[in-house]
Amino acid sequence: MDTTAETLPLLDQSTPSTDSFRATALEGLQKSQKEIPSKFLYDERGSKLFDAICETDDYYPTRTEIGIMKQHVEEMVEALGPRVLLAEYGSGSSLKTRILLDHVDDLALYVPIDISRAHLAESAEVIAERYPHIPVQPLCADYTEAFDLPEPPRPASRTVVYYPGSTLGNFQPDDARRFLTGIADTVGADGGLLIGVDLRKDVDVLRAAYNDSEGVTAAFNKNLLRRMNRELDATFDLDQFEHEAVWNEDAGCIEMHLRSRGNQTVTVAGEPIAFAEGETIRTEYSYKYTLDDFEALAAEAGLGVEEVWTDDRSYFSVQYCSRVD
Ligand code: AVJ
Repeated sequence: MDTTAETLPLLDQSTPSTDSFRATALEGLQKSQKEIPSKFLYDERGSKLFDAICETDDYYPTRTEIGIMKQHVEEMVEALGPRVLLAEYGSGSSLKTRILLDHVDDLALYVPIDISRAHLAESAEVIAERYPHIPVQPLCADYTEAFDLPEPPRPASRTVVYYPGSTLGNFQPDDARRFLTGIADTVGADGGLLIGVDLRKDVDVLRAAYNDSEGVTAAFNKNLLRRMNRELDATFDLDQFEHEAVWNEDAGCIEMHLRSRGNQTVTVAGEPIAFAEGETIRTEYSYKYTLDDFEALAAEAGLGVEEVWTDDRSYFSVQYCSRVD
């Protein structure tokens, strides 16, 4: 029996990435607070380092979210309802999704969406083999930009976006609101969102999570300099920068930076970029929400929180929202 009969050919809606990396990096490095959007942390090596972060003792989100999923999967599947088109933003290896897929039997279509084409194709294949009853349609796209969801091969009752990992935290509040509004628009009337949201907590726990004692997060952050050296002909000396992750109490977020150890000038794509001693490049925001903050943000985007699942310590939450019409 051909168990992969329902893997549909990968749809590619990605846009050329090198140009946009070059333009975005150069623009960001010319600001007074230098910054590069965190999505550029995830080249092949960066994605592997991120997976390694998730295994560290200090980084609590991944294992906490998986624990919540396992404990409450039946209620989650119930909230999704029957014959759903499930679109996952940033599917990676679809590991958390397996918890859901183990418990649904009548999905109209699973659409893993990821920017990393090779990894996506491989993961979709694995999923299709494991779940021969579920049609899988991999879509290669940058989900922060416009893309079209495919039509399901069997009629779907509704569309639900699955957005685990608290990656929403990477957006600043205005962008988060716009992004969630886009999701409400994508899922349409009667659609929903199943989302992982990291919660506010003891600042020491947060700081440790982004400054893990094994130094994996530092390597992940510095990998951005390596990536610029390789892809943008940059001349960063990795020993001349240090990883820093600080809690910004006013904004309610962790910020990752790369701090210059001295005065230095680096070339990036032919452009000289000067650093004063102590100057930083901001490489990531990771916003932490209270349940009320998230509910208010979702409401502004036209999404109503229907169910919230958390762990014993209320470190993390998985929430089901439905579009309010
Ligand atoms: C993948 C965005 C959820 O913000 O916790 C982990 C990325 N950065 N350690 C996060 C990350 C540093 C992570 N997200």
